[in-house]
Amino acid sequence: MKIIHTIAELRAWRATVGKVAFVPTMGNLHQGHMALIRAAQEETEHIVVSIFVNRLQFGQGEDFDRYPRTLASDAALIEEVAPNAVVFAPDEKELYPHVVQHYKVDPPAIQDELCGAFRPGHFQGVATVVTKLFNIVQPTVACFGKKDYQQLFVIQSMVEELNMPLQIIPVDTGRAESGLALSSRNGYLSPEERVEAARIYFHLTRMRDAILAGERDYEKLANETIADLTARGWAQIDYVEARNAHTLKPATHTDHHIVWLIAARLGKTRLIDNLEIDL
Ligand code: PAJ
Repeated sequence: MKIIHTIAELRAWRATVGKVAFVPTMGNLHQGHMALIRAAQEETEHIVVSIFVNRLQFGQGEDFDRYPRTLASDAALIEEVAPNAVVFAPDEKELYPHVVQHYKVDPPAIQDELCGAFRPGHFQGVATVVTKLFNIVQPTVACFGKKDYQQLFVIQSMVEELNMPLQIIPVDTGRAESGLALSSRNGYLSPEERVEAARIYFHLTRMRDAILAGERDYEKLANETIADLTARGWAQIDYVEARNAHTLKPATHTDHHIVWLIAARLGKTRLIDNLEIDL
C-alpha cells in the first residue's frame, strides 16, 4: 500500500495505470468502508482510497473539528484488505488553496430536502469535493455506500447530468449485529446509546414489514416511529420519510421501489439510516 499526499504525485501514478476504482472517504474507517473497498477490488487491481475530512460539507456548529482523524489505523486496515491500494490523503491547503472558495458544484432542489433541510450547504460541499477528487483521480468507477442514500443520489445524478466519464457503483449498507448501520459517528455514542441507536433499524424494518403486509398509510407509520423515538428520549427527530427509491420524490401508492429514510439525534449524535423496499 502506498500513501500519497500531493496531487502531483497522485497524477503521476494515475498516468501509469489503466482502469481505476475509487473509494472516497473521510477516514476513521470501519467495515462499512471496507465493503466499498472490496467492491472496488472486484473492478480492478488499481484502487484509490481517499481520506479527507472535507470542511466544505460541515455546517457551523457541526463536528468538523472533532471528526476523528485516524490516518495510521486507517492505513493499517486498508493494508489488510487491499495491500495494492493507493491511499490519497491530500493536504487541505492544496485542495482548498483559496481562503474564499469561488467555484462550487451546486446540486438541484434535492439538496434542500431530507438531510439538506437540516444541513444547509452540505450537499454542495459534498458535490464540490467529489468533483475535485474525480478530476484528480480520474477513476473509471467509484464506489459509494447506500448508507448515505441521498448522497449517493446526488452523486449519481451529478455524474449523469454533468457527463462525468465514470460509473458509480452503489454498495449495500454494512450493519452491526444489532442492525445499527456502521458509521464513523457511532464512535461518539456511549455504550448505552449504542444499544439504543439500533432502534432506528428496528423501526425501518417495522415500517418495511408493515408495507409488505399491505399498509399504505406512510404518514401513520412515520408518526408511530417519531412518537416512539420521542418517548424514548431521542433528542430530535429530523425526518422519517418514505420516498421513491429512484427519484427520491415522496413515495406514492403506485411506486414499486421505495426507501424509508430516517435522521435523528441521540444525545449529541446525529444518526441517519435507510431501508429499501421492493413492492
Ligand atoms: P464517509 O462518511 O467517510 O463515507 C465514505 C463512504 O463510505 C460513503 O460512500 C458512505 O456512504 C460509505 N459508508 C459509510 N458507512 C457505510 C456503511 N455502514 N455501509 C456502507 N457504506 C458506508 O460520505 C463521505 O465520507 C463523504 O461525504 C465523502 C463522499 C467522502 C465526501 O467528502
